[in-house]
Amino acid sequence: MTPFEDLLRQFEARFSRRHFPETPATLYDPAQYILGIGGKRIRPVLCLMGNELFDAIRPDAFEMATAIELFHNFTLIHDDIMDKAPLRRGHATVHAKWGENSALLAGDVMLTMAYEYLNKIDLSYTRRIMSLFNRTVLEVSEGQQLDMDYEQRSDVTLEEYLHMITLKTSVLLACSLKTGAIIGGSSQGNSEHLYQFGKNLGIAFQIQDDYLDAFGDPAKFGKQVGGDIMAGKKTFLMLHTLKTCTPAQASELQHWMTVPGRDRVEGVLSIMRACGADGWAADLKQHYTGLAMQNLEDVAVLSGRKEALRRLAGDLLQRDH
Ligand code: IPE
Ligand code: IPE
Ligand code: MG
Ligand code: MG
Ligand code: MG
Repeated sequence: MTPFEDLLRQFEARFSRRHFPETPATLYDPAQYILGIGGKRIRPVLCLMGNELFDAIRPDAFEMATAIELFHNFTLIHDDIMDKAPLRRGHATVHAKWGENSALLAGDVMLTMAYEYLNKIDLSYTRRIMSLFNRTVLEVSEGQQLDMDYEQRSDVTLEEYLHMITLKTSVLLACSLKTGAIIGGSSQGNSEHLYQFGKNLGIAFQIQDDYLDAFGDPAKFGKQVGGDIMAGKKTFLMLHTLKTCTPAQASELQHWMTVPGRDRVEGVLSIMRACGADGWAADLKQHYTGLAMQNLEDVAVLSGRKEALRRLAGDLLQRDH
C-alpha cells in the first residue's frame, strides 16, 4: 500500500488548483482562500487508502476525495463562524477576513462544488455513495448543533460528548474510508469494518483536537489555543474537571466561566491541570485508537495492505496540529 506522503502528493497534484470561477471575486476568492492556506488532507487520503485496500486506485476515488475535502472545508468555514474563531491553519479565518455574510456564502458554494465532483463518479455506485454522503452531511450538522446546545449546559455526560463528536467529526472520517472502499470494490462486510475503524479513529482524533485546543503549542496548532474554553465548550476535559473537582475548585471554575474573553483561559486551564484532565486525555485517546486498530484487523485483506492505515492511525494520535 502506498504511504500517506505519496498519496498526499498525488492528491495535492490534482487538488491544488482553482475550483471556482474567477468572478465575482468577492464570492469565490474567500472560498478559494481557505483551500490555499494548508490543511492536513487526512480525509481525502483516507478515501484513497480505503480504495487501495481492495484494488488499485481508480480515478473516481480522486473525485470522491476532492468532494470530501471540499465538504470538510465547507464545515470549517461555517464552524469558525459558530465558534467565533479568529485563526485557522495559522491564518485569519474566512469570516474574520471578509465578514460573516461572505463566509456563509463561501461555505455554500464550497458544498455545491463538492456535489459537482460527486456528480462525476461512475453511475454504478453513485446510489450507495450519495446515500452515505448525504447521511454524513446530516449527521455532521446534528453534531454541530449538539456541540452548540451543550455550550449552554453544565450536566453533559461523557456518553453525550462521545455521541456529539461521533456525529460532528467521526462519521466524515468513516465516510471517507467507506466511499473509497466502495470504489475499490470491497465487500459489504469489509467496508463496514472499515467504517467502524473510521468512527473510532475519528473519536480519538477529536479527543486529540480538544486536547490541543487547551494544551497545544500556539506556534504549531494553527488555531487559537483556549478557544473551546472561551466558547464554553463541553469537551471531555471540561466534563472530567466538572466531575472530579473539589467544591472549592467548582466555585473557582464557576467564577472563571463568568469572566469574558482570554482572561478566562489561564484560570480554567489551571483547574483542569489540577484535576488531571490532561493526563486522562491520553488514556481516552488510547482506548479509542485500540478499538480502531481492532476494527482494522477485522478487515479481511492481507495484513501488509493495512500498514499505511495502521501508521496513519498511530501518527494522528501524536499530532501537534
Ligand atoms: C479540523 O479538522 C476539524 C476537526 C474535525 C477537528 P483537521 O484537523 O483535519 O483540519 P485540517 O483540514 O487539517 O486543517
Ligand atoms: C470540528 O469541531 C467539527 C467540524 C468542523 C464539523 P471543532 O470546532 O473542534 O473544530 P476546530 O477545532 O475548529 O477545527
Ligand atoms: Mg471550531
Ligand atoms: Mg466547532
Ligand atoms: Mg477543535
